[in-house]
Amino acid sequence: MAKTKRSPLVVITGASSGIGAATAQKYIETGHRVVLLARRVEKLEQMKKKLKGKASFYPLDVTSQDTVSTVMAQIEKKEGPIDILVNNAGAAFGLELAQDAHLSDWKHCVDLNINGVLYCTHAVLSGMVKRNQGHIVNLGSIAGHYAYPGGNVYGATKAFIHQFSMNLRADLFGTAVRVSCIEPGLVSGTEFSVVRFRGDIKRVKTLYEKTQPLTPEDIADAIVYCTSCPKHVNINTLEMMPVSQAPTYLAIARS
Ligand SMILES: NC(=O)c1ccc[n+]([C@@H]2O[C@H](COP(=O)([O-])OP(=O)(O)OC[C@H]3O[C@@H](n4cnc5c(N)ncnc54)[C@H](OP(=O)(O)O)[C@@H]3O)[C@@H](O)[C@H]2O)c1
Repeated sequence: MAKTKRSPLVVITGASSGIGAATAQKYIETGHRVVLLARRVEKLEQMKKKLKGKASFYPLDVTSQDTVSTVMAQIEKKEGPIDILVNNAGAAFGLELAQDAHLSDWKHCVDLNINGVLYCTHAVLSGMVKRNQGHIVNLGSIAGHYAYPGGNVYGATKAFIHQFSMNLRADLFGTAVRVSCIEPGLVSGTEFSVVRFRGDIKRVKTLYEKTQPLTPEDIADAIVYCTSCPKHVNINTLEMMPVSQAPTYLAIARS
């Protein structure tokens, strides 16, 4: 009897809210199997319900190296080889100028936005190369290209993500494994600013007031687009902003 072909398996970190949750929804709608990863179990349970039980989930803190390798191995054992890894979990903590920032926030940001991505990528990469198939999608940011006051370490971690993605492409040359870096500007409807502004909802509302930011669904569309391109096409970087945002301002001090 002919073997039935399994639909591609997508693993999404930070799938309990925002862009990760919208991406999970989009992948389910396009016939993929989806694994949701995040720390908050109750949120993951809600997501699973919203997806009509079509996704599975594993609680995971991506900053814990041992747990990441254990969970990725469990996923591959239970669900099969991972076809697409979306390294989406990430955050900014505060918007203070560097000279006023807390070192603990910087360390947390590096741990999550850089080390978390390294642990997850390392856990799946050799398997993808062995199978000569797979796609790593990393969530960068325009903050990795355009400096702004208070962006300091967050922007630097996203510059790392851009360069790491391009260097992965260099190392994977000659294999069929693909890497894409999605670099959004202002996105509303996520918890990003709630986390950045430490729960100050008034400040969050002010940021998105009287403008039309990108939505999590816009970013999910871009991610699914990258992984749906023909196998010979690799979208290296996809930078996107809302029309209401532009990189225009270079500061000049005058005396
Ligand atoms: N929103 C924007 O304007 C914007 C713009 C450019 C780029 N981005 C990037 O897009 C990505 C998603 O952001 P978002 O806007 O969707 O924010 P979000 O709603 O706050 O989502 C962040 C996700 O990361 C998870 N997470 C946080 N710490 C984690 C950890 N230690 N281990 C595992 N998961 C963790 C959170 O879930 P738990 O708390 O349940 O773990 C949550 O699901 C981030 O990488 C962000 O830097 C966002």
